[in-house]
Amino acid sequence: MFNTTAWNRLRYSLYAPLYDAVAERAFRRPRRIALDQVTWHPGMRVLLVGAGTGLDLPWLPRDVEIHATDLSPAMVRRAQRRAEALGMDVQVAEMDAEALAYPDDHFDVVVMHLILAVMPDPARGIAEARRVLGDDGQLCVMDKFQADDYPASVTRRTLNALTSAIATDITRQARPLLEGAGFTIEQDTPVMMGRLFRALMARPI
Ligand SMILES: C[S@@+](CC[C@H](N)C(=O)[O-])C[C@H]1O[C@@H](n2cnc3c(N)ncnc32)[C@H](O)[C@@H]1O
Repeated sequence: MFNTTAWNRLRYSLYAPLYDAVAERAFRRPRRIALDQVTWHPGMRVLLVGAGTGLDLPWLPRDVEIHATDLSPAMVRRAQRRAEALGMDVQVAEMDAEALAYPDDHFDVVVMHLILAVMPDPARGIAEARRVLGDDGQLCVMDKFQADDYPASVTRRTLNALTSAIATDITRQARPLLEGAGFTIEQDTPVMMGRLFRALMARPI
């Protein structure tokens, strides 16, 4: 009920000043593992969807073209500042992941870290990622997921009513989501808390 795009814009604007203190160290290793699963080439066009404060930026190659987008203006400002502090030329824009303002087949890599479990309609977010990704593209996902082979328990679904309102959904399943959008998963690595957090690299079928 609470998980709407308007609520996410508001709450992430409130979380923005505290975000790095909570997420920078905790997710450093998972995000590096996820980004290492991508095959990088100079000149690639890369899109960060729901980029937050730009914590992925330090771990990206310097010889690629980077676009970073987020729903929250406060996050966008911080991502811009981080790019400047790192001396990186990043195109930063406020944008809804469910309606990306880019043409079809525009990117070589789309990075979705800790956003699929946050946005109200992840299937739409993944469909948008597929649309803007070229046929040889790579989708880099790092997030928390329910196991693919069985649905969330009643306890987990009950707890989810709270976690999805203030933080994140804990019942989403990666494989149905990605395969349903026309991706094949090439790498799937547990990165934190057992298999709760996973780093996936997928390509369009
Ligand atoms: C948990 S943070 C992850 C930030 C960053 N990707 C990271 O790995 O640190 C989720 C981010 O998704 C953004 N977000 C939520 N819904 C969104 C949407 N519909 N479109 C774009 N960004 C969204 C939030 O503003 C927030 O910055």
